[in-house]
Amino acid sequence: MSNISGIERETLLQAARRFGTPVYVYNQSKIEEQCLKLHKYFPDVAFHYAVKANANPDVLRIIRKQGMGAEGVSEGELAAALAAGFKKKDLSFTCSNLREEELRAAAASGARVHLDSLNQLEVWGRLKLGKEVSLRLNQGIGAGHHKHVITGGPDSKFGIGLEDIAEAKGIAKKYNLSITGLQQHIGSNALDAGILLKAARVLLKTAAQFEDVTHIDFGGGLGIPYAPSEKELDLKAFGAELKKYIHEFKKSRGKTVEFAMEPGRFLVAEAGTLIVSVTDIKQTTKHTFVGVDSGFNHLLRPALYASYHPIENLSRTRGKRGRFSVAGNVCESGDVFATDREMLAPDIGDVLAICNAGAYGFSMASTYNLRVLPKEILITKDGKLKNISFDSALFAR
Ligand code: LLP
Repeated sequence: MSNISGIERETLLQAARRFGTPVYVYNQSKIEEQCLKLHKYFPDVAFHYAVKANANPDVLRIIRKQGMGAEGVSEGELAAALAAGFKKKDLSFTCSNLREEELRAAAASGARVHLDSLNQLEVWGRLKLGKEVSLRLNQGIGAGHHKHVITGGPDSKFGIGLEDIAEAKGIAKKYNLSITGLQQHIGSNALDAGILLKAARVLLKTAAQFEDVTHIDFGGGLGIPYAPSEKELDLKAFGAELKKYIHEFKKSRGKTVEFAMEPGRFLVAEAGTLIVSVTDIKQTTKHTFVGVDSGFNHLLRPALYASYHPIENLSRTRGKRGRFSVAGNVCESGDVFATDREMLAPDIGDVLAICNAGAYGFSMASTYNLRVLPKEILITKDGKLKNISFDSALFAR
């Protein structure tokens, strides 16, 4: 949820004036604050930031400097992480349905590769890509804000099912591989630590069947509250409980085991705002449409997942309120950021902030309808505005 203070409002308006709208603005202090929270509540865990949430090079550098590693799902993401200074040893890679040469490139990058299928394991062995392997498991537990982002369970394409463990071990034996890592990622934007803890507990139980395992990765999925009715994830309780599991597991092993998590959204979502301008207002028999100069080409989440993003009018703090549907400028009826949302009545020319857009906002943006991508601006720690726009084509492979 957003709570735009007076200073923030002025800074965001300044960004809109200086760089034009639509524009993404990220707040460095907020990203750092989120990193600190994770280190505080999960002292035994190494973090690999999921680059897909926001791959901006400056954002990556900020996160790296906070002591995080990085997780990538493509050669491009690994290249972006390396360019931002992440060390090879702090990289991990997870992806399904790869071409052989992609798997080869992932192995060559030095990242810890979590293999997604029996076939990937077979290819890894046949190509002799390394003696040690890590497996991504699908333990039948999934969670997430929308069915598209639930990555555990029988409807998910990801991971090696528990029923295939014996076969995986067989393939490993055939190629003389040692299964030293296990990973899972059950889905995205869980606000209930209960499900993440349950999945962690089951993973540790499964790990007992793998005597060589020295690295366990619980994946990402840590949620943030988008809608006013949603509550923050209770990190303190989550961290305390996970710590107990970790200690128990370490004791049972009698050797060093490393633990990791792969948060994406949690670090960047609340730090980012998409700023747009009102270009039109239209009353239909059913809705009042407030047209803006951006659309799902720049922020896809509402159209793709019916996601809620708080919207604030930066140009006014008081006035008449009403219900408005905020619609974009893409030529599709599904291009609506909010339907019948209660807000201050806007006027043409007003500047609106679409909040909590720092994760999976710009990174999922496109030039659909042949409109240019928004600029990306950073509010640095000393309150300055820095243009950090980058050309993602430089990294895409
Ligand atoms: N690890 C793996 C293997 C993943 O696939 C993902 C996200 C993450 C970590 C990070 O998940 P997070 O902590 O951000 O939830 N576009 C969607 C989210 C897709 C997430 C895909 N995988 C959205 O806008 O909600």
